[in-house]
Amino acid sequence: TKASVGVLGLGTMGANLALNLADQGGQTVALFNRTTIKAQELADANPAFAKSLVPTDSLERFVEALATPRIIILMVQAGAAVDEQIAALKPLLDKGDIVIDAGNADFNDTRRRAAQLKDSPIRFVGMGVSGGELGARHGPSIMAGGDADVYAIIGPILERIAAKYQGAPCVAHMGPDGAGHFVKTIHNGIEYADMEMIAEVYGIMRDGLGLKAADAAKVFTRWNAGDLASYLIEISGVTLAEIDPDTGKPMVDVIVDEAGQKGTGRWAVIEAQKLAVSATTLEAAVSARIISAHRAERARTGAIYDLGATEKLTGVDLDALEKALETAKIIAYAQGFVIMQEASKTFGWNLPLGKIAEIWRAGCIIRSRFLDAITRAFDASETPENLLQVPEFVKRVKAGQGALRRVVAQAVLAGIPVPALSAALAYFDDLRRRRGTANLIQAQRDLFGAHTFRRLDRDGVFHHEWPPV
Ligand code: 6PG
Repeated sequence: TKASVGVLGLGTMGANLALNLADQGGQTVALFNRTTIKAQELADANPAFAKSLVPTDSLERFVEALATPRIIILMVQAGAAVDEQIAALKPLLDKGDIVIDAGNADFNDTRRRAAQLKDSPIRFVGMGVSGGELGARHGPSIMAGGDADVYAIIGPILERIAAKYQGAPCVAHMGPDGAGHFVKTIHNGIEYADMEMIAEVYGIMRDGLGLKAADAAKVFTRWNAGDLASYLIEISGVTLAEIDPDTGKPMVDVIVDEAGQKGTGRWAVIEAQKLAVSATTLEAAVSARIISAHRAERARTGAIYDLGATEKLTGVDLDALEKALETAKIIAYAQGFVIMQEASKTFGWNLPLGKIAEIWRAGCIIRSRFLDAITRAFDASETPENLLQVPEFVKRVKAGQGALRRVVAQAVLAGIPVPALSAALAYFDDLRRRRGTANLIQAQRDLFGAHTFRRLDRDGVFHHEWPPV
């Protein structure tokens, strides 16, 4: 008998996804990897699935091992490798075969590939998979793109391998071509913002309140039982509590303060900018990672601006920090969902926003209790234009904005950087400001370039003869 699905690319994510397909998925899985020995090694290492894993040692034999229409999941590095594999597979496949790119692709690439393969025998799917290594093995959150009739074929398999939230599988069809990878990109942008805000709060605990890592760990663990309950808060508690076996110091105190990034957060920000949507909390998070990576420059600048003891934090306790974090988080998610709403219109995707919140409730990195509230917000009859207008969040933001204000103000006075928390606050204040200051910008533009302006008291477009400067 032939294999029902194939996994091409057996790095950690690919290998775990293959095991998940064999295990929860109940599939017979053909395996192939460019370094061919890996397929056999994976099968050998998992004798429990001996019957369901079919290692192959050439692309031809991999394709040959699959039942038709073939379902092939690519788990190779995003970028050129995906194009190379598609090109290599193309002559070997038959009409109706399905190729799923399950890596973290740039959705622009996915759109291009979907267009290029439109008239080919291959039915192409770009699919976002979140949940890291463990998620891939035991249940990720899956955001599938591509045509609806292809999803009808692969959906049942995906439902079996996806994470479950109270029994409901965390997988859905997002829309055609790049929709799945776009939603995954925004997931990662939100992930960056969420992580940065948590790190800023940790910075306040450490540098403002003098908490040791073990004490900060306890705070996060406590918060994980409340409204902030989420995977990222949970792992913050776990990582802060961990001790380095070599030195006996907290692990976080021996880890270099330079963040890595593979680009998805940056893509989210770039796409938001292209769509003319404000994504300031995501931008702040990406920028903070960039500055973190310039460690030597920070050391040099720090030596020049050694301002001595900064002002002490006042009026900031752990409860205020918790409320501030919750409020800023609501604002960051509001931005993330506006980006998706705008993309949905621009690309004609009709993204299922409520469903997205639903399938992020389990399996993915940003899974949280909070996403349940977002699900409810989009379940209402009318799609909100911004989560900040939804009654449940209005209540929470009204209750928390004072704390966010105090925390940002006090951190700023103490010289503790809070770029994402303050970006959240500024967005909130800008959005609720009925009379803004762009009237001055319009006046300036009209003066130097006759760019025209509109008036409050009359309809039409106007130019004023400003005094010569
Ligand atoms: C996920 C993660 C996953 C990966 C990120 C990390 O949803 O499972 O987002 O995709 O861990 O790409 O991104 P950085 O390396 O950019 O932090």
